[in-house]
Amino acid sequence: MNTNAKNPIGIFDSGVGGLTVANAIYRALPNENIIYYGDTVHLPYGDKSPAAIQGYSKEIVDFLLTQHCKVIVIACNSASSHAYQTLKKHIGDKAILVNVIDPVVDYVAKQNFKQVGIIGTRATILSNIYNDKIKAKAPKHKTVGKATPLLASFVEEGFFRKRALTEMLLEEYLADEDLQNIDALILACTHYPLLKDDIDAYYRQKVTLIDSTAIVANYVEQILKDNSLLNEAGNLLDFYVSDYTASFEKMVNIFFGSPVNLELKRL
Ligand code: DGL
Repeated sequence: MNTNAKNPIGIFDSGVGGLTVANAIYRALPNENIIYYGDTVHLPYGDKSPAAIQGYSKEIVDFLLTQHCKVIVIACNSASSHAYQTLKKHIGDKAILVNVIDPVVDYVAKQNFKQVGIIGTRATILSNIYNDKIKAKAPKHKTVGKATPLLASFVEEGFFRKRALTEMLLEEYLADEDLQNIDALILACTHYPLLKDDIDAYYRQKVTLIDSTAIVANYVEQILKDNSLLNEAGNLLDFYVSDYTASFEKMVNIFFGSPVNLELKRL
């Protein structure tokens, strides 16, 4: 186990969308060293097979282990759905592995929701992982999942800033009959926090939206405390991508909220 508190937190995603999670962690834990890896060469994971997602994720985790990460956060919902178990076996006790699903399920299980909706990529929704895990912890909660695959590329194109287009797309997905009686909705994709206000407006603030980024950041903080791994003097923020284009650099601003330098690093 990398038990030195000064060692970095590794965070990875299929691309730059996971920077929503990285940003929440950075804000909650500003004294941590952070290494972020975005697998832009294989983006999107949401349409890939479980085997492909597992293979890509393993390579990234191996890279993060060479950087002596004490904690590795799978920021991507699609990878958390399909690769967590494989990665857990692969890593053993070399680092603490965190996915973005379990902290959210723990949170949801403690609330008095009746019917919980889940929206995410095809990979995440087809895995049924949220439904199964919520059922195991809170059998009374009903769950309903809906794949909303266009939303991620919609955000990446910057269209979420165009209200009329956003309303049209949300109407198309959220008007689904299955989603009519929900009292909570899990935003199960790295990109959806950027649509939170529009989704909230769609439901006229009557549905509780569950944005996993803050929940995951709090969870990571708790894990560091529990394991005496909190860093009090870190200032490193390293961002790597497996493919580089100017549009990725632009998107970084959208997802992280401030400019960062992306370095190309093929694995
Ligand atoms: N990061 C992915 C997720 O959270 C969305 C983008 C993709 O499909 O790779 O599921």
